[in-house]
Amino acid sequence: MESCVTAAGVLFTLLSTIDTVLSITPQTQEQVHVVKNVSSQFETTLWQPVSAEYIKAEADVHLFVPANSSQAVTDLLQSHAISYEYVILLDNAEELIEMQTKNDSTDPRSSQTFYERYHSLEDIYFWINRTIQDNPATVSVVLIGSSFEKRPLYALKLSMNNQPNKKAMWIDCGIHAREWISPAFCLWFVQYSLSFYKRNHDITTILDNMDVYVLPVMNPDGYHYTWTNNRMWRKNRSASSGSSCIGVDLNRNFDANWCTEGASNDPCSEIYCGAFPESEPESAAVANFLRNHRDSIQLYFSIHSYSQMLLFPFSCTMDEAQNHADLLEMAKEASQKIQRYYRNHYKYGSGSKTIYLAPGGSDDWAYNTGIKYSFTFELQDRGRYGFLLPPNYISKACNEALIAVKTIALRVIEKT
Ligand code: ARG
Ligand code: ZN
Repeated sequence: MESCVTAAGVLFTLLSTIDTVLSITPQTQEQVHVVKNVSSQFETTLWQPVSAEYIKAEADVHLFVPANSSQAVTDLLQSHAISYEYVILLDNAEELIEMQTKNDSTDPRSSQTFYERYHSLEDIYFWINRTIQDNPATVSVVLIGSSFEKRPLYALKLSMNNQPNKKAMWIDCGIHAREWISPAFCLWFVQYSLSFYKRNHDITTILDNMDVYVLPVMNPDGYHYTWTNNRMWRKNRSASSGSSCIGVDLNRNFDANWCTEGASNDPCSEIYCGAFPESEPESAAVANFLRNHRDSIQLYFSIHSYSQMLLFPFSCTMDEAQNHADLLEMAKEASQKIQRYYRNHYKYGSGSKTIYLAPGGSDDWAYNTGIKYSFTFELQDRGRYGFLLPPNYISKACNEALIAVKTIALRVIEKT
């Protein structure tokens, strides 16, 4: 007995010296209340759900707890008999972050692993340039707008043959800054398309029938900020009048039941909807481009992380989309393919029924604008590393998303 106490004591001391992510499951309303308050009392970062107001009984909460708050947080949870477990133990999160930011592009020998690493914004701009230079016949760049801090928003257009009046699909990545696997996927997708056209049957069919627009980083200011200041930043970096808080959640800023339940009008919230729909230059740029190309674009993808889900409209209402059955069938087939080929589980369904009401999202807006096949993917993982998915997971995460994109695109080509 005594040795047990000692061992537990040692473990406890150890745990209070390192950063951790706790998975907390409140059971009662009182416990829900306590957990909601933890994030305001201590220096912690909520990883899941996106905002404290969504914390509810029986649902797992992922909370990043820095070493110096660890003891106080676990004491508080224990004193209310709230169950929790450690999902990641980080010697320090800094080490994991450093592992992800170790840089590269200067070393030509490491070029075959380029797509298996995360890249700074500067490197991504550099990559965009090189990609258009190396593929002048098939890749062009479209400047769709600029960010709040005046960074260019470049989309790549992949167009494999010169057929007129081709359909098109759109993929955007990096709407939320800290979801680094998302821009990594856009780069992966472009590289795969250019390498496997005429070598892989499915991608060849897709590219023969559709042009593809890829926006690798929709939120460049936020993404840059995650590399330089705060790895956990989500929103863009715009200033609001009347508040010192920075940033709008770009995925709450579109004109789809804008700023109703599931978004916030508080500029300090992680889900701040902005001053009005499309108030942000980044969301306005995407919306304008899609409006101007809605006759050709039939299929829309927005790539996020984490939680492993294939979502479709609506997120802004509990109502079913008019082609719900089609969307469900496509997402189901994609999820089954991932399961079969990669042995990994992805939930699928409409956004509001699968996660939560979240109005003002790009997928719902695109759908309402006439792009009837509209999806949001949440890539790996399910919370072990969360936003800090280590680079050695990139290839599997991207291949899972790729097979899902291919499956759905092929179905859309058949139907339209
Ligand atoms: N995690 C994403 C978000 O909170 C989910 C997006 C689903 N689609 C939507 N329109 N909310 O933004
Ligand atoms: Zn996101």
